[in-house]
Order: sequence, then structure tokens, then C-alpha cells
Amino acid sequence: MRQGVIRRFRAWLPEIPEGAVTTIGEGDTPLIEAPTLSERVGARLFLKFEGMNPTASFKDRGMTVAVSRAVASGSRAAVCASTGNTAASAAAYASRAGMKCFVVVPAGKIALGKAVQVLAHGAEIVQIEGNFDAALRISQEIAGDRDDVTLVNSVNPDRIEGQKTGAFEICEVLGHPPDALALPVGNAGNITSYWKGFSEWREAGYSDSAPRMLGFQAEGASPLVAGHDFENPETVASAIRIGAPASKEGALAAARESGGAIESVTDGEILAAQDLLAREEGVFCEPASAAGLAGLLKLVEEGRGPEGTVVSVLTGHGLKDPDVILSRVELPEPVAATFEAVAGRMERPGP
Ligand code: F0G
Repeated sequence: MRQGVIRRFRAWLPEIPEGAVTTIGEGDTPLIEAPTLSERVGARLFLKFEGMNPTASFKDRGMTVAVSRAVASGSRAAVCASTGNTAASAAAYASRAGMKCFVVVPAGKIALGKAVQVLAHGAEIVQIEGNFDAALRISQEIAGDRDDVTLVNSVNPDRIEGQKTGAFEICEVLGHPPDALALPVGNAGNITSYWKGFSEWREAGYSDSAPRMLGFQAEGASPLVAGHDFENPETVASAIRIGAPASKEGALAAARESGGAIESVTDGEILAAQDLLAREEGVFCEPASAAGLAGLLKLVEEGRGPEGTVVSVLTGHGLKDPDVILSRVELPEPVAATFEAVAGRMERPGP
């Protein structure tokens, strides 16, 4: 049985009374070796497939802790701003806890699968005529204004605590920390969490090393690379379309202290990496999740690729964003239901 990250890693997490634990069996996601892409990257590459969590993104690791602690504190509702995945996760965990859930999202800018999840769980969705950064500001104000409403964005430290468990799982499965960890950066909570996890693992004496943290932003939404906020962030990777990351300091510290970096990749590089993962390794992730591999390939091309064991965190499942695939590849027209028609289609040269 999947016990969830709180019961599995309790000693590493803030105190949560057993009666408040709200879990849907998150965590324990597969670490998948990627032999074909390893050749391209020139290192032993593993994929930490966070799309295998209950709501199909890494957010569930932090949400179980945030919602459980909200329950323990007597909170009656959760609120969050989101580019989609936080909303889907908050909606699911709030349902499980019997809490109300309000999600504030940029109108028309969240991927279809994520919007459908929020609706399915019965959360209240508020679409604003503004971007994620505005939605976060408003959500923070609402939680500050009402005692019984908990903000479940990653500015809530409980989210960071829960998400660091991804680092523990990687160390346990490999038997040691990787040499480098590549992941997408949006609001910058996850890179902060992973670095906290690897640092605590080392401090506890389980290892004497920690990976270089390699964070990648989409070029059109790369405030940490440019050194200033973006007022109108733009990228096909809607999950990381963020112009003013809340955990900026944590992300910069992770890169600095680990000897890593935060760099940017283009939308073209992100989509190409998404295709490679799906077509060469059979792993379908959403565009933002492919930013890690896109970044690794860029470093390799420039002769700066990491060596040894490298883990790329695939933060969300590809089914979250069907439109991004359908805008590139169409379903072919139907043919007659005969052997000849089908065989004729199969003999055609590839797509
Ligand atoms: N990958 C995916 C699939 C995401 O949904 C997000 C963030 C990130 C990467 C970046 O993580 O923000 O911790 O740096 N999604 C948030 C949301 C913002 O609202 O779902 P981060």
C-alpha cells in the first residue's frame, strides 16, 4: 500500500497529528533509467516521473503536508493561485479533507486537463483577467484577511517541506545522491525544496555529497536569468509562465550553494525535449517538465554537460496539456474498414 509522504518521512517533516493526515498515496514515484537519452546527454540519466502522483504532478507531495496542517489548525478552506497543477492538487486534497477550496487562475491560460481536474473535484475556480503573479498577490491577501482560510501555494513553508521528499526518494533508490539534478523553475518552490532535501540528507550523515542543482526557466519567463521580474511572461510551457517567482532567494541559493546554475531554454527546445522523452523513452510529460532535459541538451551542445549520474525531474504528466500536442500533430482521416485500406496506410512512410 502507498502510505503517502507524511507517514513515510514523518521524522523529516513538521508535526502533524495522525488524525489530521490527509493523503491520497502521493510520492514513491518511479525513477526511470533513460538509456537512449543517456547517450545524448553523455551521462547516466534517470527520470523522476512525478506525473505518477495522484493528481499527476509533484504538487501532491507538498499539498498533503499543507492540507494536513491546515486541518490540524482548524482551517475550513484552502486558497491558491495557480498555473494549473497547484489548483488541481489543492482541489483534490481539500476534497479529501472535507474543506472548501478556492483557486485563482489566469483566465484562459491553464491547460485543459488541469481545469478539468479542478472542476471534477468541485473546487471554486476564479478566473482573473491577469497573470499568475497577480493571482498570487490576491490569494495572499485573501488568506491574510480570513483566519479560517489557508494559503496552499509554495510560499506556505509546509509545501516546501513536503516537496523535499522527492530528494530523499532519489537518494534511497540510487543509494547515493546524483551528481546533478535538472528541473524546471517557475515560482521556484520546487528547486528550493529539492535543495533543502539533499542538504538535510547530507547533514544527517547519509551521504557526503549533494547534487549540482540545474534549474531551467522558459526564455520568455526567465526573471532569474535576466535578473529582473517579467511583467508579461510568455511561454508555451504554461505551468512555468511566471514573471516574479516567490521563492527567488531559495532558487538562487540552491544554484549558488550547490555549484549549479539557473539558465533558460527556448519554447522550441522545450517542445523538442518533450518529443524526445515521449518518442525515445516512452515517457509523456507536460511541456514545462521537459525544460530540465532541454537544458541538459543545451549544456551538452555547449560542451558544459554534467557528468556521472544525472536526474531530470519530470514534474507533471503529458495528459495535463493535450492541446500542445494536438497543435503539432493531427489525428489522420479515417479509412475504409478493410484490410487493403489499413495495410495501405501502414505502408506509407512515417509521419
Ligand atoms: N513543472 C510543473 C508541471 C509545474 O506545474 C510547475 C509549477 C513547475 C514545474 C515549477 O515549479 O513553481 O516550484 O518552480 N506550477 C505552479 C502551479 C506554479 O500553479 O501549478 P515551481
